[in-house]
Amino acid sequence: MHDFELPSPLSGGKVTIVGLGHVGMACAISILSQNIASELVLVDRNPDKLRGETLDLQHGLAFVRNAQVYGDTQYSATAGSKLCIVTAGVPQGPGDSRTSLAPKNLEIFKEIIPRLVKYSPETILLIVTNPVDTLAYAAWKLSGFPANRVIGSGTNLDSSRFRFLLSQRLKVVPSICHGWIIGEHGDSSIPIWSDASLAGVRLRDVDSRVGTKKDVENWSQLHQEVVGSAQEIIKLKGYTSWGIGLSVAALTRAILENSQSSYAVSTLVQGIHDISEDVFLSVPCILGDTGVSRIILQTLNSAELADLHNCAKSLYEIQKSLHF
Ligand code: NAI
Ligand code: LAC
Repeated sequence: MHDFELPSPLSGGKVTIVGLGHVGMACAISILSQNIASELVLVDRNPDKLRGETLDLQHGLAFVRNAQVYGDTQYSATAGSKLCIVTAGVPQGPGDSRTSLAPKNLEIFKEIIPRLVKYSPETILLIVTNPVDTLAYAAWKLSGFPANRVIGSGTNLDSSRFRFLLSQRLKVVPSICHGWIIGEHGDSSIPIWSDASLAGVRLRDVDSRVGTKKDVENWSQLHQEVVGSAQEIIKLKGYTSWGIGLSVAALTRAILENSQSSYAVSTLVQGIHDISEDVFLSVPCILGDTGVSRIILQTLNSAELADLHNCAKSLYEIQKSLHF
């Protein structure tokens, strides 16, 4: 047989995933099976898990578009990554708050972020580890990157949960239900009922009481279900993974394909909606090959603005208590 060169991967871009646990591998299989990246570099501090997950994924490559998958404990293998996804860290247990993970996961970030930056100084960081808004801020500080190149997966997952629940209530497919959940990922997220719509028809145009205290159909229950989703799933299966994996794959595609489409992701919101604190929170952002290319300023009512400002204040207090 002639010595054929390995065919170079099709365009798509090099993506690194640090942390090969439930979430990291859900991200990996979602990205690979949707043919989004041409190179996937896997990093984990556990060498056996790293080798096992790498081999297992490689054995499926015959069934996806030409892509290279390799794993390494050395960060030099990540060099030149267009996007670095960080899911490394300790997860919540039943009853744990995301915030309680901050001190431990911040220490992990102090090890990971500088190494990623050393080998890919132009990369975009996509933070998933919880508490994701605080750790996106930490990654921004630790990397020294411009804020547009540091993104938290934020309430993209909360918003997709909300859209699914809307679709169930309306008996349609999730893709034609639209609704933004902004603010902090998790317990204090904020539903923007004024935007909630089905195929372009705003729910509030059908019934102005939707999502208000006068709402006899109790649509607000859907947001409460979103807030409770993580703990419900963690109690049932021990962790969440598939929803966040698909959510991260969508963000990865938007960045690698320079889609300039909008997602609720965690970004530096200082100066947005009169927020004075330098914190990361989710608002609608336009994503492309430079990361966050624009922030969409929604029209928020006084209650929504107050909730957003409260989120900012509580995150700022958490940040002040951490040692960066
Ligand atoms: P896991 O425990 O299954 O996996 C964590 C992985 O990180 C392990 O493979 C571990 O070896 C690796 N790791 C730990 N320290 C490392 C280091 N210094 N360098 C490299 N690898 C390291 O946890 P799981 O379930 O995958 O969750 C990971 C994180 O993602 C948690 O913080 C969890 O709360 C968060 N998460 C965030 C979501 C979001 O919407 N933002 C949704 C679901 C989970
Ligand atoms: C979630 C948690 C784990 O699935 O952040 O929302």
